[in-house]
Amino acid sequence: MADKKTFYITTPIYYPSGSMHIGHTYTTVAADTMTRFKKMTGYDTYFLTGTDEHGQKIERKAADAGLDPKSYIDPIVAETKALWEMMEIEYDDFIRTTDERHVQVVQKIFKQFYDQGDIYKSEYEGQYCADCEAFWTPTQLKEGNACPDCGRPTELVREESYFFKMSKYQDWLIEYIQNNPEFIQPVSRANEMLHNFLRPGLQDLCVSRTSFKWGVQVDFDPRHVVYVWIDALSNYITALGYGTQDDSLMRRYWPADVQLVGKEIVRFHTIYWPIMLHALGLPLPKQVFAHGWLLFGNDKMSKSKGNVAYPQPIVQRYGADPLRYYLMREMPFGSDGNYTNEALINRINADLVNDLGNLVSRTSAMIIKYFDGALPQDGKVEAVDEKLRELVLQLPSEVEKQMDQLQFSQALVEVWRVISECNKYIDVTQPWVLGKDEAMKERLGTVLYTLAESLRFVAVILWPFMPATPERIYEQIGVAQQEQKTWDSLKHFGMLKAGTKIQRKEALFPRLDVQAELEALAGDTSPAEASVKQETEPEKVQDSMITIDDFDKLTLRAARVVACENVPKSDKLLKLTLSLGNEQRTVLSGIAQHYKPEDIVGKQVVLLANLAPRKMRGVLSEGMVLCAATQDDSQLKLLTVDGDMADGAYIS
Ligand code: MSP
Repeated sequence: MADKKTFYITTPIYYPSGSMHIGHTYTTVAADTMTRFKKMTGYDTYFLTGTDEHGQKIERKAADAGLDPKSYIDPIVAETKALWEMMEIEYDDFIRTTDERHVQVVQKIFKQFYDQGDIYKSEYEGQYCADCEAFWTPTQLKEGNACPDCGRPTELVREESYFFKMSKYQDWLIEYIQNNPEFIQPVSRANEMLHNFLRPGLQDLCVSRTSFKWGVQVDFDPRHVVYVWIDALSNYITALGYGTQDDSLMRRYWPADVQLVGKEIVRFHTIYWPIMLHALGLPLPKQVFAHGWLLFGNDKMSKSKGNVAYPQPIVQRYGADPLRYYLMREMPFGSDGNYTNEALINRINADLVNDLGNLVSRTSAMIIKYFDGALPQDGKVEAVDEKLRELVLQLPSEVEKQMDQLQFSQALVEVWRVISECNKYIDVTQPWVLGKDEAMKERLGTVLYTLAESLRFVAVILWPFMPATPERIYEQIGVAQQEQKTWDSLKHFGMLKAGTKIQRKEALFPRLDVQAELEALAGDTSPAEASVKQETEPEKVQDSMITIDDFDKLTLRAARVVACENVPKSDKLLKLTLSLGNEQRTVLSGIAQHYKPEDIVGKQVVLLANLAPRKMRGVLSEGMVLCAATQDDSQLKLLTVDGDMADGAYIS
């Protein structure tokens, strides 16, 4: 292992202020695809992601929900991990900034900055955007003191703070960026940083707060918590054990090869972060790559604006691979692009169903028909075969060239060029004509062998993008051995073994009816509904023991349904108005397939009353009503109270 080249890649750590959406999924899929590609091409890889859990924004969100911050974020973090699993994301570590391993090292880093004179204490007065967790100067603010990044109102902050002497490192950083053109990608972002922030002069940065508590405490001055960006950026090294007894990962993987960020946080990663690292005497990441935004109706997706698409309903309908493919194919990495369900469905139909899926099924069907399901011999190669084979043999290096530039969509364009040439090759060689003439049997064998072997290249190369698809292709084209599935095996055309039995399988990707799918997706867009369904899947049900203390955490109450209605565009949800005696609650429940609204008005049901409220379909659901259900969800009944009780009675 020691002689393998290493590759360390990171995503931003996401705020668990709400469910992750397609935008977060985009970065995470890109990092996973890149990691898999590097792994496949022989690197010792390390992929880090996680959650950024401190700060004013989270503290406020939790308070609004009537919860302490940790109880608020824990379920969101669990949901995030489940989402990454669903998306086939294989990270090596998931860091949470509330992890003790992280908190301790952040305190140490802060102390070191202070001890070496990079940090001093003073008073801060200025505008702060809690949503971006960013300080702004009067010249940077938009009209009405609005945040220049997100446009929301900022607030005046006046408090004793520690400051980091950013100005001290300004000239060094300008020179570094100029001398290392690979450091900030795309290059336009480097120019933006130099022009907008560095050359006009860096202000010292306020790096601690006293007006709220939810953060890493400054251990030598406990009234202060560390500014959330100093805390968050450190994750990229605390996760590797920096500053601890076991820093072997740090020695093995730092500096990072690529740090992926959305374009709105380039400033933090290419100004504050390099300065922090330099002050610690550490080398800078080799590259910070700023990708564009997935827009929703020409606007940046955002949880708070409510214009979001969530991956779960899509994955449940089509699987993870088509969504991963769409995200990596649709827009060049670095540019913005619009997300629409229609574009997703059209791409699945055009690229996956028509081009790739048809090619695989045509090839395997002909091998079954003409050669009884045994892969034929490769015979005499003609010019038309040779032309295709040359193109196929060049594919790995063409793809690698694009991947080294993080040009995922271009890499896929190269793969689809080969797929399209294969389809043309079928039209030109006309195997169905050859099949009618016994004298052409050897020629037919060569044609089908050429197609199957070309598809082997395609399948191997697609693994980083669509991890579940290659195996499904392999069984249809006669790839039976591990050594036929490696990157190294793509040095040779002709690795498939004649005689290998192939199997007829169902189509790789079923054709989608655009209109029907659009309707289904429009009515099924929230991660919560998706997870309701997931939780009832038999294999997900697990019993683990709890103590009575665990049970005591639940507040269960008898609640009267005083009103109930269908939720527009949802075939699963009902909206219930519940009375707890002196209080009313609104609760959404996924029971619409089992109850009509009028059937449940008047019933006294069991409410989990201290579940963190969450918004679904623009409605805040304040609890959960309990049901008994069979594992396949075919039968479901509400839990009710035996006899009449006072509304709101506690259940224990
Ligand atoms: N917590 C900070 C990052 C700290 S890193 C030390 C943060 N979190 S976030 O939850 O707001 O996530 C931002 C990141 O999510 C973006 O930089 C990007 O990687 C991804 N995206 C979120 N919305 C996105 C789109 N609409 N489109 C593309 N990527 C987006 O900022």
